[in-house]
Amino acid sequence: MSLIALGVTGGISAYKAVEVCRGLQQHGHDVVAVMTHSAERFIGPVTFEAITGRQVITSQWTPGSNADIEHVAIADAIALLLVAPCTANAIGKFAHGIADDFLSSLYLATRAPCLLAPAMNSNMLAHPAVEENLRALVARGVHVVDPGDGYLACGWVGKGRLAEPADIVDAAVALLSRTDSASPPGAAPPSALRALRVVVTAGPTYEDIDPVRYLGNRSSGRMGFALAAEAMRRGATVTLVAGPTSLEPPTVGEVVRVRSAAEMHAAVLDAAATADVVVMAAAVADYTPTEPAEHKVPKTSGSLTLTLQRTRDILADLAELPSRASAAGPLLVGFAAETGDVVARATDKRTRKGIELIVANDVSRPDAGFDVETNAVTLIDAEGERFVPLQSKEGVAQAILDRVEYLLSERSARIS
Ligand code: CTP
Repeated sequence: MSLIALGVTGGISAYKAVEVCRGLQQHGHDVVAVMTHSAERFIGPVTFEAITGRQVITSQWTPGSNADIEHVAIADAIALLLVAPCTANAIGKFAHGIADDFLSSLYLATRAPCLLAPAMNSNMLAHPAVEENLRALVARGVHVVDPGDGYLACGWVGKGRLAEPADIVDAAVALLSRTDSASPPGAAPPSALRALRVVVTAGPTYEDIDPVRYLGNRSSGRMGFALAAEAMRRGATVTLVAGPTSLEPPTVGEVVRVRSAAEMHAAVLDAAATADVVVMAAAVADYTPTEPAEHKVPKTSGSLTLTLQRTRDILADLAELPSRASAAGPLLVGFAAETGDVVARATDKRTRKGIELIVANDVSRPDAGFDVETNAVTLIDAEGERFVPLQSKEGVAQAILDRVEYLLSERSARIS
């Protein structure tokens, strides 16, 4: 059981914090509610006092609250600071280190992980000031449960609704379990990946049209690099197969540089022969020019037609490895970059490719997917879906490998 500070700020959805509080308690956690003055205009502290069984903190100046500098004492005691709903004002204060009430002081004082569930009008959410503040917080390690789309209290329809209380609770519980299993400073993490061989692919592939031109894509390699670095940190022997990117790859066991989908296919199948896990984070071209020209193609006044042929599907070929029939082959993880119907398409892709885990990525979002430092994904395996809220790609890599570790331990339990 952990103590969670539930920050409630002044939004119309403040009443939904009651359901969040209940959900956390159902998972066995103890909750202390911290309300801002504006939150009190939407819901009374008595409600939270009754359901938490604790005094609700509404001010820094309540008599007695400074006897042991309460925001510091609570900052030390909590395992998580969750703010739901979190207004643009609170996000702005957190991003700029303003500590003018109990909640903003607590945010600065605690070293516990912090999870925000923003809720506001769509235009406020899309304002560059709010977007920049959220980006700054995420870059500092703060986790965000994305607001949903729908009918807003202001009468608008759009993005900005507080995420569903059950999703907020799931994100909080997942974050706590990750923190619980973290190892003490200096100690090696107790990881199911230790001493295993992990192959990670990253970046785009380039398919040559002629000696000068190619077909490529926007992948930067960040997500794959973060996965390779995290697998290495967990004690795995890592082979990173990287397409052409301008970023420096992390220092891992072996880095194999490739250019085309065909080169990546050969390198991955070679490395996979002895691998325990293969994570295909690369954006591999599905098509390649049928006959790349030997010399630079000169322009003409007319149009140019390129004939493309399918590349070989690396994941599908890995799934067919004879070793997989005996469940001794590598555990396979794929990515699904989608722009609509993200979870349904990714679920279907996982089954079609015959792989254990697929990471569904909505690449239509400006803050997730290609060439940005943050990501938000849904992990889909045979047991169902798990949402990983917006955070740094390093954080997402941890969540993916946590799931890989779980699937590995499930598999070995089944075999033994
Ligand atoms: N992949 C692969 N071999 C390829 C192409 C893709 O192994 N030739 C892997 C990618 O690394 C990724 C996953 O397959 O893990 C993506 O699946 P894919 O079927 O290629 O989906 P998309 O190309 O993203 O989309 P779609 O099939 O919907 O066009």
